[in-house]
Amino acid sequence: MPDAASPSVPASAVPPGSVGRAGQWTVAHTRDGQVKAVSSRCRHQLADLSKGSLDKDGCLVCPWHGARYDLDSGAMVEGPKGILWYRGRTPGYTQLVKAYGLFLKLRRRTVVQEGERYVVRD
Ligand code: FES
Repeated sequence: MPDAASPSVPASAVPPGSVGRAGQWTVAHTRDGQVKAVSSRCRHQLADLSKGSLDKDGCLVCPWHGARYDLDSGAMVEGPKGILWYRGRTPGYTQLVKAYGLFLKLRRRTVVQEGERYVVRD
């Protein structure tokens, strides 16, 4: 039985290659079987990263403007392509946001499997 204070998500809701949500955390299940948790607000414009996706390199991709995050460090490794409702090329702006995204990293947590659930631990 999961600890009521620890956020969790059914393991079946996060198959390999997908992301889901456990409380305030985004849980990512990589294609190679690792399960990791990061904070859910994009450092660009606060999109919900649990609605994002994993790319072929295992990076978490923001659903709004495509900023990419390394799940091991929480750093933004590629800046957004767009701003507000615009989606497209914004070269200088993309680099500027990436520069602060390298330092304003997503928070990370450990995930353990308990029965049929993935539980986020401090
Ligand atoms: S809100 Fe995430 S890239 Fe813009």
